[in-house]
Amino acid sequence: ELGNYRHFMQKEIHEQPRALIDTLQDAVMGEQLSSAIFGFEAENVFAQIDAVAILACGTSFHAGSVAAYWLEAIAGIPCRAEVASEYRYRISVPNPRALVVTLSQSGETADTLAALSHAVSLGHEHTLSICNVPESALVRASKLRFLTRAGPEIGVASTKAFTTQLAALFLLTMVIAKQRGRLTSEDETKYIHALRALPAEVQRVLTLEPAIAQWAERFADKQHALFLGRGMHYPIAMEGALKLKEISYIHAEAYPAGELKHGPLALVDKDMPVVAIAPNDALLEKLKSNLQEVRARGGELYVFADFDTQIANSDGVHVLQVANNAGWLSPILHTIPLQLLSYHAALQKGTDVDKPRNLAKSVTVE
Ligand code: F6R
Repeated sequence: ELGNYRHFMQKEIHEQPRALIDTLQDAVMGEQLSSAIFGFEAENVFAQIDAVAILACGTSFHAGSVAAYWLEAIAGIPCRAEVASEYRYRISVPNPRALVVTLSQSGETADTLAALSHAVSLGHEHTLSICNVPESALVRASKLRFLTRAGPEIGVASTKAFTTQLAALFLLTMVIAKQRGRLTSEDETKYIHALRALPAEVQRVLTLEPAIAQWAERFADKQHALFLGRGMHYPIAMEGALKLKEISYIHAEAYPAGELKHGPLALVDKDMPVVAIAPNDALLEKLKSNLQEVRARGGELYVFADFDTQIANSDGVHVLQVANNAGWLSPILHTIPLQLLSYHAALQKGTDVDKPRNLAKSVTVE
């Protein structure tokens, strides 16, 4: 079943181009997007909403956090992503016009299911589940649905489920943007073409694996690591840190790079590897000065950069070029090297990659 791969996690990382093709296929076949990919009632529901509330746990929460950037910037609709287990226990202000989106690989996560029932009990009727398991409890409990087609995910650490959730959430953003008159037909065509090209781009990023495996050798003896990203890549930094923690047991934390000087810079020394996500976007120059602050304190930098960022390899600064700037889709491409880094760090440490200690694939208890 593993073929040429050593672990399910590695296999599932490499399945991502295929998983994305399958997930996107129906949506991007034509030259126009249809809200019907979310269910026949979707057009009617989306016409009534004035906000989006995303509820999920763990890696799925990170996908939702990226989507919050997309939905506000592209569709112009207020959106927040919240950890499902927190939402259900706080006193919130229900907005019956909000679309409540639950995200889950398994569709059986107790906290996410309970958050959905809580939302419904508060009067939320517009519910959408984006899920990898058809007919799971979450899908059955939601009015609208979109099934990611990652296929069964066996490794406890979620990989292909995450990137296919992001693809689904980008489709959701575009469909809502279109319905709100926020998407020109030129942009619609442009994004459809970008989504069609995405699996091949991911495939190209996967060829970095040997270089990333070399970097990983230098993480195995470290106690801590810091992950930096800005804007919509901050949740990707969070995802990179979570992956490293859960399978290699190296303590990792993510920060939006601008927050460094508000505290975490005090931690930085030569034993603290700092992983930075450096897309070639409007925040690049800001990020570069954040990176200089790290270097000035002796921190070892591992930078996953877009092409043409002019960040050079130098003493203590290691740079791998990941991709051309993929615009809004960039978080999907920049996830791949972080998955590979944590996988290879775990290999170096000899941990049980597919079944990390203390964790279960599907968390069906609170
Ligand atoms: C991390 C991981 C977990 C899950 C979380 C939610 O790699 O797998 O954080 O993402 O338990 O699970 P689902 O998506 O099945 O609701």
